[in-house]
Amino acid sequence: MSSPRGQFSSKTGFILAASGSAVGLGNIWGFPTNAAENGGGAFVLIYFVLAFCLAYPALMAELIIGRHTKSNMVSALQKISTGAIAKNIGKLTGFYGVIIATLILSFYSIVAGWMLAFLLEPLSTVTGLSDVSIWLTEFGNTRNIIFSAVFIILTTTVISAGVEHGIEKWSCRLMPSMLLLMACLIVYVMFQDGAIEGLKVYLLPDFRQIGDPQLIASAMGQAFFSLSLGVGTMLIYGSYLSPDENLPAMGAIVTIVDSSIAFLAGLLVLPALFVAQQQGVTIYNEAGNLIAGPDLIFQTLPTLFHSMGAIGIPIALVFFCLMTIAALTSSISMLEVPVSYTIENHGTSRHTAAWLIGVVVFVLSSLIALNFDRLFSVVVTLTTEYSQPLLGLMLCIFATWVWHRDKMLAEIRSGHPQVEQSLFWKIWPGYVRFCCPVLILLMFVQNILN
Ligand code: TRP
Repeated sequence: MSSPRGQFSSKTGFILAASGSAVGLGNIWGFPTNAAENGGGAFVLIYFVLAFCLAYPALMAELIIGRHTKSNMVSALQKISTGAIAKNIGKLTGFYGVIIATLILSFYSIVAGWMLAFLLEPLSTVTGLSDVSIWLTEFGNTRNIIFSAVFIILTTTVISAGVEHGIEKWSCRLMPSMLLLMACLIVYVMFQDGAIEGLKVYLLPDFRQIGDPQLIASAMGQAFFSLSLGVGTMLIYGSYLSPDENLPAMGAIVTIVDSSIAFLAGLLVLPALFVAQQQGVTIYNEAGNLIAGPDLIFQTLPTLFHSMGAIGIPIALVFFCLMTIAALTSSISMLEVPVSYTIENHGTSRHTAAWLIGVVVFVLSSLIALNFDRLFSVVVTLTTEYSQPLLGLMLCIFATWVWHRDKMLAEIRSGHPQVEQSLFWKIWPGYVRFCCPVLILLMFVQNILN
């Protein structure tokens, strides 16, 4: 092992970094649009239940394994296993996680690149470079590849600076800025005509949809994606956390921050959609559903910004800046997964590992961009809908079936001996052992049958 492992210098550093990982395009874009498509308040309700009853326990499994083993997912699952078979399965599961994290980053950086391009667009409009504006906002291979490359370079630069001087430093700078931008936008949008109607669609639950299998599947996928689960992101962040911290509380804070920001993003995006309608923008598609997907972010909202006149330019700038920051604090956590593995298991220096994997991600992401129609949604489905829940299931099994129970309990106690009086102590071990795997499996099967 060539370099000593990094560590977060403070509790706040960890919370901001882990929340930064969790809060991303999934929150600001995925959550509101999923809510709009799945019965508004009904989705919000089910999402919160799943986030706390399923995603939080799974998040804890990752954090506990990570902090105990102080290593990446490949080594971590081997370390907590006894016997050759379990160790080999652990190793394979870890590898699978590393590959999925790399693939998620490959498609994520394309989308994040669009955010960057749209961030520059208002500037080119102001300076009268209309050809550039068109190039920036039109779907095209060159644009997609250039901006995903820029985004990958940003991500790699942060990761190559290490845990404390890269991940922690930038999360502490970017997360508060992101919150501030978001708060300003929400306040502005709320005062526009039409906003209240959007709020109603967002918050009033359509209870007929509450048991809808599609809604539950979407909410579970959203919760797993949003908390960055399964691929070892939270595991590796947990491994950089000091043994003196109260782990269940840290995990709870991250879950609360993540869900709250998703909720806040809904207060921004859905009202904005209805403000756009007031301005004459079409917000329902031919099938009569609210426009969601990429069209919402890259067509409906930009049309709204344009229709606002001069004020629309700073608003667009702030909005896409918010998106880019959210994406960056998430993408660094994805890149850290393969990078930490390469550093720890192949003795590479952090700098070399980061740039080497940055290049791999760039190649993969260009392949996806060049075969967009064929590959993009396949990769998204394969990684987020199938692999993440399966890996989450494996992590729950490793934490509670494979790992020696006393050692696992000792790790929970570390840094917080009073935990033995808490509900967490009484419920979590059994819950993750029996309930979580069954619940995840049920929803997974149901998702496939759909
Ligand atoms: N949670 C982030 C979001 O909501 C994305 C993310 C970061 C992620 N790290 C991950 C998703 C690891 C899956 C796996 O946008």
